[in-house]
This record gives sequence, structure tokens and C-alpha cells, in this order.
Amino acid sequence: MGNAAYLPYAAVTKDAAERRNWTFYKAIKKERRIVMTKNIPTRDEALALLHEYNESDSLRKHAYSVEGVMRYCARKHGEDEDKWGIIGLVHDLDYERFPDQHCTMTRKILEEHGWPEEYIRAVVSHGWGICSDVKPESVLEKTLFAIDEMTGLITANAMVRPSRSVMDMSVKSVRKKWKTPSFAAGVDRSIIQKGAEMLGVEVGELIEDTINGMREVADEIGLKEDSV
Ligand SMILES: [Fe+2]
Ligand SMILES: [Fe+2]
Repeated sequence: MGNAAYLPYAAVTKDAAERRNWTFYKAIKKERRIVMTKNIPTRDEALALLHEYNESDSLRKHAYSVEGVMRYCARKHGEDEDKWGIIGLVHDLDYERFPDQHCTMTRKILEEHGWPEEYIRAVVSHGWGICSDVKPESVLEKTLFAIDEMTGLITANAMVRPSRSVMDMSVKSVRKKWKTPSFAAGVDRSIIQKGAEMLGVEVGELIEDTINGMREVADEIGLKEDSV
């Protein structure tokens, strides 16, 4: 191509490149705006949803237990306590109304409310291998997966104690129950074990974290002290 012909060609090309960049820039800006305006749910919004979809006292208390433990673990890892807690609070959102579509319906409900994908993915990953094929990847997701069942074991342990409380509960007493498969037989120890392996921690550490997290919400879950 001769010089004379080349210059206009270059000019056109440059112009096209600029236009392309501009379009690209606008697309990025639009994308950012969408992300920015995506709802970051507040605890109040999460609680309202929990109450809307769960009438059962035990399901609500389970949600508060998981929230408490997630908040405790978030602080331990230097992570976002609110985010971890909110995800814990709604993790079983659909269970009362749609037990046969557990996790699937929570995704649908949260999507309809404009929740960020990060929150939805984390919630759904707690059912990995049971009702979802989303594998826990982040520390948040692995923690939720591991402590969900553990809160059940600790609650069952509190109920058979004279105090009916988590306040005076030792790790040792839970360890004993852990090794007794007939105690709270519905608590799947293999899931907790898998969660501990994913996190690279001993089950004893999970027991301790779960007791500590549940102590922080002991009033709400009715496991503070036996006042009777
Ligand atoms: Fe669940
Ligand atoms: Fe749960």
C-alpha cells in the first residue's frame, strides 16, 4: 500500500479503534453500574425474608445458630462479619415450604430479590452432594458447609444437659457425643468431617468454634441458662 493510500486507511482504523474503545468503555461502565446497584442485602432484609418463609420456631433458631457461628468464624478469619452472618441466616430459607426443592428454591427467591450471585452461590453450596452440585470453594462456603450440621449436634447436646445451655458446655462433652452414632443420629458426621477436611482443621476446632458462636446467640436460640 502506498503512503498516500495508507494515511487515510490509518486514520479510519484509528477512528474505528477509538470508537471500539469507547463502546467497550461504555459497556464496562454499564456493567459497573449494574454491579454497584445490585442489592447488598442488609441483616434486616435477610431477617424479614427468613420470617416470611419460615414460621417454625426450630427452623428460625437453627438459622440464628448458623448466623451466630458464621459471624464468630468471620471475625476469626478477619472476614466480613455481616456478609457471613447474613448468608448463614438465610441458608435454609426454602426448607419449610419447599423441602423437596431445597437450595433450588432459595436460589430462585434470592434472585427475585436481586441478591448478589456471591451470596446465592454460598448459600446453595451448603447443600453440596445432597441437593446441590455447587462445591464449597471459599473459606466462607467451606465454613458454612462444615458448621451447619455441627449446630445440630451442639443443640442436641445442650438439650440433654442439666443446664440445657451452651454456656457451660465443654468441647470434650461434644466429642463424646460425636463418637456415639446413636446420639442425634440424624446429624450426619461424615458431612462435618468432609467440611473439616476442606478447611484443613480438626473436628475439635469446629466443635469449639461452633460452641463459641452459639454462645453469642444463646438467648435467641433458647440455650442460655436454665432459668427454671
Ligand atoms: Fe440445608
Ligand atoms: Fe441448615
